[in-house]
Amino acid sequence: EKGGHDYFMLKEIAEQPKAVADTLLGRIDAAGSLTLDEVRIPAPVLREVDKVVVVACGTAFHAGMIAKYAVEHWTRIPCEVEPASEFRYRDPILGPRSLVIAISQSGETMDTLMAVRHAREQGSHVLAICNTNGSTIPRESDAVLYTHAGPEVAVASTKAFLTQLVACYLVALYLGQVRGTQWGDEIGAVVRDLSGISGAVERVLKTMEPVRALARSLAAKNTVLFLGRHVGHPVALEGALKLKELAYMHAEGFAAGELKHGPIALIEDDMPVVVVVPSPRGRSVLHDKIVSNIQEIRARGARTIVIAEEGDEAVVPYADHLIRIPATPTLLQPLVATVPLQVFACELATARGNEVDQPRNLAKSVTVE
Ligand code: M6R
Repeated sequence: EKGGHDYFMLKEIAEQPKAVADTLLGRIDAAGSLTLDEVRIPAPVLREVDKVVVVACGTAFHAGMIAKYAVEHWTRIPCEVEPASEFRYRDPILGPRSLVIAISQSGETMDTLMAVRHAREQGSHVLAICNTNGSTIPRESDAVLYTHAGPEVAVASTKAFLTQLVACYLVALYLGQVRGTQWGDEIGAVVRDLSGISGAVERVLKTMEPVRALARSLAAKNTVLFLGRHVGHPVALEGALKLKELAYMHAEGFAAGELKHGPIALIEDDMPVVVVVPSPRGRSVLHDKIVSNIQEIRARGARTIVIAEEGDEAVVPYADHLIRIPATPTLLQPLVATVPLQVFACELATARGNEVDQPRNLAKSVTVE
């Protein structure tokens, strides 16, 4: 049942190219337009949306953080994202023109369900992004876009996360398409890039042996920090979450620019710091800033583990360990940059003798508030 793998998590990591392809299947037509008819929120309603609010927990929340960049860039609609557990307690400002997107692999997470109920009570439209057919959250939402990851058994979410990202991109692009934003041409190009992304994930998976060796060599460390900027920030948070839940290590993710405002004091000699580097081709300012962040931490003794696009030579002098990922458009980079972090956490957990599929204190779906 584990398909020859030692753990469900390893099987599910390996299934990611297929999960991503399956989630795109039938949703892009031959002309490169999105066909999300299954999202039964009528186009006139989507054209009137004046605010998007994303609610989710844990890994799904990280997918939501990335959705914010996509929604705001491609649609210019303001987008908020909040952990579902906090949402209703601050009396959020919602109305009939708000589109609330609830992301949940299981569809049974109580915090997310309560956020959905609250949003509907305020008259907002709720779209669920969910991996489990007929589960409670889609049933209580106005519409659902299913991710096609297949059943995810390991407690640590991997393939569901990648498909949540795909679904978020599809929703953002669809909103852009329906509303006809100024990014029309870019949307067409991104749809084409998305179609090739499954192959890019496959390529990353083929190059993971050095990441495993690196993880094993760090098994005795106490702390690992993760840095990123822009969509690399949620990727850093996801890398840290995976390490906490699987390896039971102190791990923290930061927006790289925040480092100098405090966390840089944590850096000690030989402390592993993973840095997710944005593409040098996209927002090159961001790229240059993060290269100086890497220099700063290395000067203070950090052992830098750099995840950077193939062909990015600027990072080479400052990387103690370099993990290459295929070049992708900036907004899509999380689909490839997250994979090495999943492998890293899984291998560290194994090296530390932890139960990979069933980490202590955790349940696959959290059905209490
Ligand atoms: O089923 P859900 O997507 O609603 O679950 C949300 C979180 O509980 C879940 O992502 C959790 O953070 C994972 N164990 C992370 O790997």
